[in-house]
Amino acid sequence: MSTLVLKRPDEVELIRESARIVAEALDLAGSLARPGMATAEIDRQVKAHIEERGGVPSFLGYHGYPASTCISVNEQVVHGIPNGRVLREGDIVGVDIGVYRKGYHGDAARTFAVGEVDPEARRLLRVTEEALLRGIEAIRPGGRLGLVSHAIQRHVEAEGFSVVRDLVGHGIGRKLHEDPQVPNFGPAEAGPVLRPGLVLAIEPMVNQGTWEVYTLEDRWTVVTKDGRLSAHFEHTVAVTENGPEILSRTA
Ligand code: MF3
Ligand code: CO
Repeated sequence: MSTLVLKRPDEVELIRESARIVAEALDLAGSLARPGMATAEIDRQVKAHIEERGGVPSFLGYHGYPASTCISVNEQVVHGIPNGRVLREGDIVGVDIGVYRKGYHGDAARTFAVGEVDPEARRLLRVTEEALLRGIEAIRPGGRLGLVSHAIQRHVEAEGFSVVRDLVGHGIGRKLHEDPQVPNFGPAEAGPVLRPGLVLAIEPMVNQGTWEVYTLEDRWTVVTKDGRLSAHFEHTVAVTENGPEILSRTA
């Protein structure tokens, strides 16, 4: 039994347009992620960029979320609220952006190094992005979603890191969060069969130490239980007859 929403090509095109604005906004955020920059200033400039391109920030007001972006520093996993915190050399900063335009959402995230960061932090960023790409490459029409989850978990754990269990990726389209849930862990045989027209937001969250997390008193910011670093990369991806197509790219 499946209630997955499959998108027509014209709908995928609209998601692509929203996701491209997300990718541009992430490029902007990456250029701003330097020592001395406050996270609220990144949020402000990203919001301005989205609006200039005719979009609306998907996250602003979502279940009461108070900002346009999620900006998560160091041991913060996801859903950090931009504020007066100033980035320092050696931080890693995850920026997650959603754009709604013409009835469709795009959603993507990257984690940036602020100035020079230590080699283990750099390796965490590399492995998390690689895990995302391996998960995407595992997509084939007629194959199960578990192939994606399994590919991500396998790469992360082979590198000695851990995958967050409490949060997952999701279908995306007219709503920011649609079925199916996209876990970053689990057996290859699990989950629904992937069909052309399915659009997914795949988003591994990878910890240096334990996979366990908790939410701060602000009721949004998710942090690692052991205080060690966490990284997050996300793409909006369409399943096509020929395999995966990443929509959250500028090119
Ligand atoms: N990309 C995240 C997600 O898909 C961020 C959304 S959290 C929000 O869940 F509440 F700020 F929207
Ligand atoms: Co998402």
